[in-house]
Amino acid sequence: MKSIVVLHHLLFFFLLFSHVSSWKKEEFRNCNQTPFCKRARSRKPQHCNLIATDVTINDGDLVAKLITPNRFEQNPDQNSTDFQPNPLILSLSVYQDGILRFKIDEDPVYNPPKKRFQVPDVVVPEFESKKLWLQRYTKGVIDGDSGESFFVYLFDGYEAVVRSDPFEVFVREQSSGKRVVSFNTHGLFDFEQLRVKKEGDEWEERFRTHTDSRPFGPQSISFDVSFYGADFVYGIPEHATSLVLKPTKGPGVEESEPYRLFNLDVFEYLHKSPFGLYGSIPFMLSHGKSHGTSGFFWLNAAEMQIDVLGTGWDAESSIVLPSDQKRIDTLWMSEAGIVDAFFFIGPKPKDVVKQYASVTGTSAMPQLFATGYHQCRWNYRDEEDVKNVDSKFDEHDIPYDVLWLDIEHTDGKRYFTWDRALFPHPEEMQKDLFSRGRRMVTIVDPHIKRDDNYHIHKEASKNGYYVKDASGKDFDGWCWPGSSSYIDMVNPEIRSWWADKFAYSEYVGSTPSLYIWNDMNEPSVFNGPEVTMPRDALHYGNVEHRELHNAYGYYFHMATSEGLLKREGGKDRPFVLSRAFFPGTQRYGTVWTGDNIAEWEHLRVSVPMILTLGLTGITFSGADVGGFFGNPDTELLVRWYQVAAYLPFFRGHAHHDTKRREPWLFGERNTELMRDAIRVRYTYLPYFYTLFREANVTGVPVARPLWMEFPSDEATFNNDEAFMVGTGLLVQGVYTQRARDATVYLPSDHTWYDLRSGTAYKGGKTQKVEVTDADIPVFQRSGTIIPRKDRFRRSTVQMENDPYTLVIAVDGSGSAEGELYTDDGKSYEFKEGAYIHRRFIFSNGKLTSVNLAPSTSKFESDCTIERIILLGHTTKSKTARIEPSNQVTDIELGPLQIRSGVRSTVLTIRKPNVRVSDDWTIKLL
Ligand code: NOJ
Repeated sequence: MKSIVVLHHLLFFFLLFSHVSSWKKEEFRNCNQTPFCKRARSRKPQHCNLIATDVTINDGDLVAKLITPNRFEQNPDQNSTDFQPNPLILSLSVYQDGILRFKIDEDPVYNPPKKRFQVPDVVVPEFESKKLWLQRYTKGVIDGDSGESFFVYLFDGYEAVVRSDPFEVFVREQSSGKRVVSFNTHGLFDFEQLRVKKEGDEWEERFRTHTDSRPFGPQSISFDVSFYGADFVYGIPEHATSLVLKPTKGPGVEESEPYRLFNLDVFEYLHKSPFGLYGSIPFMLSHGKSHGTSGFFWLNAAEMQIDVLGTGWDAESSIVLPSDQKRIDTLWMSEAGIVDAFFFIGPKPKDVVKQYASVTGTSAMPQLFATGYHQCRWNYRDEEDVKNVDSKFDEHDIPYDVLWLDIEHTDGKRYFTWDRALFPHPEEMQKDLFSRGRRMVTIVDPHIKRDDNYHIHKEASKNGYYVKDASGKDFDGWCWPGSSSYIDMVNPEIRSWWADKFAYSEYVGSTPSLYIWNDMNEPSVFNGPEVTMPRDALHYGNVEHRELHNAYGYYFHMATSEGLLKREGGKDRPFVLSRAFFPGTQRYGTVWTGDNIAEWEHLRVSVPMILTLGLTGITFSGADVGGFFGNPDTELLVRWYQVAAYLPFFRGHAHHDTKRREPWLFGERNTELMRDAIRVRYTYLPYFYTLFREANVTGVPVARPLWMEFPSDEATFNNDEAFMVGTGLLVQGVYTQRARDATVYLPSDHTWYDLRSGTAYKGGKTQKVEVTDADIPVFQRSGTIIPRKDRFRRSTVQMENDPYTLVIAVDGSGSAEGELYTDDGKSYEFKEGAYIHRRFIFSNGKLTSVNLAPSTSKFESDCTIERIILLGHTTKSKTARIEPSNQVTDIELGPLQIRSGVRSTVLTIRKPNVRVSDDWTIKLL
C-alpha cells in the first residue's frame, strides 16, 4: 500500500514538473468541452420567446414575471418531455448617476430545490442609499412595434425601457431615442432552472480523469448584451491579450474561444489568448465616437464565457435594429448563479469607471512605501541572503522599499511559520530592514498542510473550517505542502478567525513592518480538475464551489487584509498582494498578473493587462518585472524596468530556476540604467500618490488608456502600447530589441514636451522620436503641473521631508494646472481630514497654490518647493516675486531631467522655498 502511495506521489511530481515547463493546453477545458458553453454558443438569435407580464412597482423596484409560453427546447440537458420552465422573477432598480440594476432569478413560489447563489459582500453598502425609489412607470409602445413597453426615468436625458414581448431591457436617450446598451435584444436569453434529480437523469460531467457529480443538474444562464455607438469593447480581465477585445465569432472573423472568466493557476500563460487567467471581473466597457462610453457588469462568481460577436453574426435573424447606430453585440454565458446585472450609461469614460466604483468600491489608499519599488525572488534563501541583497541596493545607490520572501522561508510550507535553520531571527531581520526604512513581505497561501502537528490545521479541522468535498469530508487536494485542505473563506466567522492569525502573538516572528502576499488563491489544486477545486465541493451554506469559484480568492484576500487591519487596531493601512481577484478586490489590496515569461511579447502584453485591470476597478496592479519564467536578456530586463517604473505596482520577481537578476548583476552600465529607471519612479512618487488618492476618491485609475483622456480622438481607441499616468504623462513603451526610434501618437491639439530633451511636439499627430538605451519616451502634456521629489534616497521613508519640484507645462494660452496630495503615508487619519491637498494654478505668469483640504486639517508638513520648472514659457522673466512674503527669487536656465547625463535647459525658478502646506502666489517679473 505504502509503495503505491509513494508511486502516486512520484508520478504526481513528475506531472507537476512537466507542467512547470510550459502551458499545457489539454489540462484546461475549451468551450466545446464545457457543455453549458457549447449549448449557449450554438443557439441562434430569437432562441427564446420570453414575455414580461404582471408588471408592478414594488418597494421602489419595477417587478415583473418572465414567462415562456409553450416552450419546448431541444436542450440535451433538459429533454424530459414533462419539462416546463417556471416563470422567473425580474426586478429592476434605478440608482443615482446613471446606473440601472436588474436581477432575474427563480421564483420561490415554485419551490426550486435550493436557493441559487447570489454573490454577497461585493456591492458596497453605500450603494443602496443611491437608489431612486421608483414610483411609477409609463406604459407605451416603441416606434415600429406593436407590443407593450414600460419606461422609467434613469438619468437626465436617459430612460430605461422594459419591453414586454419579446422581453428586452434597454437604456436610451430620451430625446433622440438612440439606444445606449441593451439586454436580450437578440433573444439569446436562457435560464436553466434547478430540478430535483430523477431516475435516468444523467447529470455527471467528465473531464480528463475528473467527474463532476452535478447534483443539481444544469443551471446555466446566458444572454446577449449590445453596446450602441460603440467602436470597441474593453474590460473583462484577466486575459493576456490586447486592450481592445477582438471579436471571437462572426463572418470574416478568425473564430476563437470565447473570453473565459474562470480563475485558474496557469503556468507560463500565452500572450494573445482569450484563455482565463487568475482573476475575473465580468465588467465590460464600450467606447465609441458617437455615444461615448457605456458599461455592463454581471455580478456572478461562476465560470463565465463571453463572446464578442463580429458585425453580421446575426445576418439570418429578422430582428431590425436602427442602422444609423454602430453596435457591438456580445454573448454572456455562466454556469450558475443568477442574473444580477448593471448598466452604466457613462457617457464619458471616467463616468463609467466612477459608476462601476460606486457599486463595487474604490481602491484602498495604499501606504506610501507600497508605491515604491519591491524586490522579490523565489526565493531569498536565508537571512544572510536578505542582508546581502539589501546592502547591495545601498551600495549601488538604488532606492527600494520592500524585500519579499516566497514559500521557501516557511517550515515545510506551513504558512505563519519560519524555517528556523534559514531564518532563525525573523524579528531582528525585519527590524534591521526597517531601521533603514524598509519593509518585508511574506507569502501566505490558502492551502493548509494536513499535518496534525500544525496549529492552523489542528484548529481548522477541529472547527470544521475547511471546504468540504462532495461527500461532506474535508476536501483534500495537493499543493506546495503536499496533502492540503482549504479554508472556507466564504464564511464570515472563518474569515474573522483567519484574520486573528495575523496578530503578532499568533504569527510568531512577525513585526509591524511585515506585510503579506496571497498566492495560489484561485484556488490552485495541483491534482484537481484544471488545477483547481472540483466544482461539486461544498462551502458554507451548502453553496457549491461552481457557484462561487471566481470569488474564492477574493474572500481570502479580504480576510487577510482584515487581519492586517486588526493587528494594528485598525490604524495601519494593510498591504496584501493577491493573484486571484474579483470585483471589489480593489478595496483589499493589490494584484499582479502572475507567472509571465521573460519575453518581449510578455512585456508588451503587460501594459494592456494592467490598463484593463485599471478600467475594471483594480488600479494598483503590476506584472513581474523581467518576467517570472526564463532569463531575460539584459536589454529586455532594462526595458522592463523602464516601462514598469510608470505602472502602478512595481516589483521585480523571478522563478527559482532562473539566474539571479538583481539590478547590479549585469555590468556597470546596465546597473546605471536600471538605477535610473527606479529613480525616475521615486521622483514621480508625489504624483503617483496624488493619483492613488484620486483613485481612492473617485475610482479613476492611475494608469489610463489614452482614450480615457482623449475620448473623442479615434486614433487613441485601440492604442495599447502607450498609456497615460494621470492626465499629465504619456508613456510610450518600447517592446523590441535594439529599438533606435519609436513611433508615438501624441493625441489631441495639445503640445507635448519630451521629458528627456524638453523638445515640444504638436499633438494630433504621429511622431517618430529617437530612442536610446537610456530611457523610453515620456511626454508631459501641456496645461499640466506635475509634482516631483528629485533628490536621490534609499527609500520612501528617507524622502519624507524632501522638498518638491513642480514641472509646469504651459498650454497655448500660457496656463496649466495640477494637484498635490500628501498625508502621513500610513494611517487612516486622512479619513478625518489629516492631509494636504493643493491645486496649483498657473496663468498670466502667476502660480497660485489653492487649498483643497479642509481648513481644519491636522496634517502638518514642513516640506517646501525648491524648484519650479517651466516648459513652454516664452516670456523672458529674470526674477519672480513670492506673495505674501514679498521675497524675490531668481529665474534662470536650469536642468530639465533628473537622469544623469542629460542636461537640457529650461526656465527654472530656483529656491522659492515656499511651504507646500501654505497659500502663496509666485509672480514672474
Ligand atoms: C506562483 C506564483 O505565481 C509565483 O509568483 C510564486 O513565486 C510561486 N507560486 C511560488 O510561491
